[in-house]
Amino acid sequence: MRHSLIAWAGALAMSVAIVAPANAGKTVATGAGDVEIPKQAKKCMACHNFDKGAGTKVGPELYGLFNAPSTIQGGGWSWTAENLHLWLNKEKGGPKEAIKVLTGNAGATTKMGFNGFKDDAEINEVVDFLSKLHD
Ligand code: HEC
Repeated sequence: MRHSLIAWAGALAMSVAIVAPANAGKTVATGAGDVEIPKQAKKCMACHNFDKGAGTKVGPELYGLFNAPSTIQGGGWSWTAENLHLWLNKEKGGPKEAIKVLTGNAGATTKMGFNGFKDDAEINEVVDFLSKLHD
């Protein structure tokens, strides 16, 4: 009896461990409370962490990014709403073209392999969300 209880508790602990990561990341804890991750921003999650202190994944952590200096390709610009709009604008060539404008170097390249969005409303949704990720 005692053994089966322990086995059951163990199985429960394991299923909690498996379920937790799937639920994690629906919201991000910020200084103004939990912020829900909108649909379009979920596309960033394959490569970026939004949670504070979660660190680099494929690309840098995006918590506290808004209006902060860039950490990539030598930096030299800040992630204002305007620059984020350029970065995520598929019609304007996405990050591959944006990096040339931001660095002022026509030969600049970026490792970000996501081309952004066609629709301004989608870009707005993501930029608005990123602007909330601060203490
Ligand atoms: C396929 C992977 C991938 C996806 C998806 C992706 N990124 Fe990136 N991102 C990267 C990589 C890699 C870098 C680093 C680029 C470099 O060093 O040139 C990066 C860099 C960035 C930077 C610059 C960060 C800094 O510290 O200067 C921003 C801003 C950014 N990504 C935003 C986004 C947003 C917003 C999304 C979702 C809409 C997104 N990314 C989706 C891979 C990705």
